[in-house]
Amino acid sequence: MKPLNRTFSIAPMLDWTDRHYRYFARIMSAQALLYTEMVTTGAIIHGKGDYLAYNEEEHPLALQLGGSNASDLATCAKLAEQRGYDEINLNVGCPSDRVQNGRFGACLMAEPKLVAECVDAMRSVVDIPVTVKTRIGIDELDSYEFLTEFIDTVSAAGCDTFIIHARKAWLQGLSPKENREIPELDYQRVYRLKRDYSALNISINGGVKTLDECAEHLKHLDGVMVGREAYQNPYILAEVDQRLCGSDKPVLSRDAVLEKMLPYIEKHLQAGGRLNHITRHITGLYQGEVGSRAWRRYVSENAHKPGAGIEVIHQARASMEAV
Ligand SMILES: Cc1cc2nc3c(=O)[nH]c(=O)nc-3n(C[C@H](O)[C@H](O)[C@H](O)COP(=O)(O)O)c2cc1C
Repeated sequence: MKPLNRTFSIAPMLDWTDRHYRYFARIMSAQALLYTEMVTTGAIIHGKGDYLAYNEEEHPLALQLGGSNASDLATCAKLAEQRGYDEINLNVGCPSDRVQNGRFGACLMAEPKLVAECVDAMRSVVDIPVTVKTRIGIDELDSYEFLTEFIDTVSAAGCDTFIIHARKAWLQGLSPKENREIPELDYQRVYRLKRDYSALNISINGGVKTLDECAEHLKHLDGVMVGREAYQNPYILAEVDQRLCGSDKPVLSRDAVLEKMLPYIEKHLQAGGRLNHITRHITGLYQGEVGSRAWRRYVSENAHKPGAGIEVIHQARASMEAV
């Protein structure tokens, strides 16, 4: 099996990195490794919808699982492999209360043996990589030694790839949003981890906004994972392949990206889908350009209306020109 290129990845983001967003991101970068939103084992095993659906174009694609029952995780990992996913990632970083009640996400950092058991159970039933996304610590458990003990235990179960959000999580008192902003970023700690565990593949995550910053991190690490910036200012993705992955393909213009998105949107509409289910992910495309506010405003005021069709996109684009 060809190893996945982990140089640049787009973070799993609940409600944001759905399959429409991922299709859009893939138009701009052929190389970025994409992650699904976190999907819980409960949803996959007991839910009514198809939580594993994706578009073939999205590959390479990792499924992020939320859970802490080893046997349920193994069941879901197997199903995901059968559906063609390229990687299974376990969420050991989400601090929300709902997730803590289910005893998964960031609180699992305090239970490295359980995480190791989960990794082992998944690895024993699939051939695709099983990886872990975690933080540098939780609450008062924020020493370097705490982090290395976690890494030692989980890597001993065969996990050789970690994505580290370079800030700890406060499990009480901070919302998930605050937990992405308030605890300080500590990139040096992640660099040190890579120096001490050179055989492991380590990606850094948290607060990265430009491809220059990515290039700087890549001097120390195997990969960079970008979340909010890749969503809010998605056009940064258009140069990922050329700037970070050695591609010599021409960079697509913003309009070319939009053009390539149109057939996908048409297909979605023909299948009875709503326009705004896709447009909400693409409104940041023209960020920083003259007229981008007019584009954004037109889309958000019109795309949710019943019967809104592809003409809304054309009119929104035209409204930019009028500025
Ligand atoms: C709206 C939103 C939803 C998120 N959902 C998840 C999730 O499902 N799983 C996860 O591991 N992290 C989730 N995160 C955290 C991101 O993956 C990432 O670790 C965090 O945003 C820091 O990276 P950034 O500064 O590049 O955004 C979410 C973040 C946001 C903004």
